Amino acid sequence: MKKLLILLVMVGLPAGAFAAGGHKSCGTVECDAVDIDLGDKASLQRGARIFVNYCLSCHSAGYMRYNRMGRDLGISDELIKENLLFAADKVGDLMKAVMPKEDARLWFGVAPPDLSLIARARKPAWVYTYLRSFYRDSKSPSGWNNTVFAHVAMPHVLYEWQGDRRAVFKKDAHGVEVFERFELQRVGSMDKQAYDRAMRDLTNFLTYLGEPARLVRYEIGIYVLIFLAVFLVFAYLLKKEYWKDIH
Ligand code: HEC
Repeated sequence: MKKLLILLVMVGLPAGAFAAGGHKSCGTVECDAVDIDLGDKASLQRGARIFVNYCLSCHSAGYMRYNRMGRDLGISDELIKENLLFAADKVGDLMKAVMPKEDARLWFGVAPPDLSLIARARKPAWVYTYLRSFYRDSKSPSGWNNTVFAHVAMPHVLYEWQGDRRAVFKKDAHGVEVFERFELQRVGSMDKQAYDRAMRDLTNFLTYLGEPARLVRYEIGIYVLIFLAVFLVFAYLLKKEYWKDIH
């Protein structure tokens, strides 16, 4: 019994440590938690749609092919051709940005980075909070700023969904300006819940993009666990058989 307890603690500890790592700071503000579920195919499909329509014009996902994504997320080649193939000709093409890197650098001052690994480099909670933290700033060249990524060169490409917001800052005890809240100046086509849901889908998709093999690993993992459970029964019976005469 004691041994079993020790084993359970050994297995449980790393899992607990992982869960605790979720709340990373997002620039000067706290990250909002996001519910990532790679088993939620419908959410991944909605996220893929947003990504292809609104992000792929500037950013690449240069390690992913359209048809590999389709296979993983349950989207047929025909559906990809009809709905998702704006930036490429063939379903076997890599997901490259429409805008050439040099042009983008000229326009924005920096080239938009490839987003294949962004959810691993920045963590999903960061990406989710970033996508919901744009505000109008007349002092910034693009006209936009972001509480998670100060002076970001990316314009708020989804402002028609989220609406126009300005940020209100207050001075703390040391006279430093700290972010207080957002103020909606013009409503967008989505309310807060709908926009948050859409950004959750997009973050879910970007998390999948960071490690596509995870979907396969989850499936294999379940079979491995079932096998181990069955094997445990036989191992136990065998042990009883061997020790029968000695006890
Ligand atoms: C009009 C071009 C453009 C579009 C469209 C665009 N971005 Fe960006 N994005 C940029 C640029 C430029 C940067 C670099 C910002 C910087 O370094 O200041 C950037 C940066 C980012 C970053 C931060 C990367 C880092 O350095 O950590 C993320 C995340 C991101 N974009 C996600 C998205 C997503 C998701 C979409 C689709 C909803 C999108 N972007 C659409 C231009 C664009």
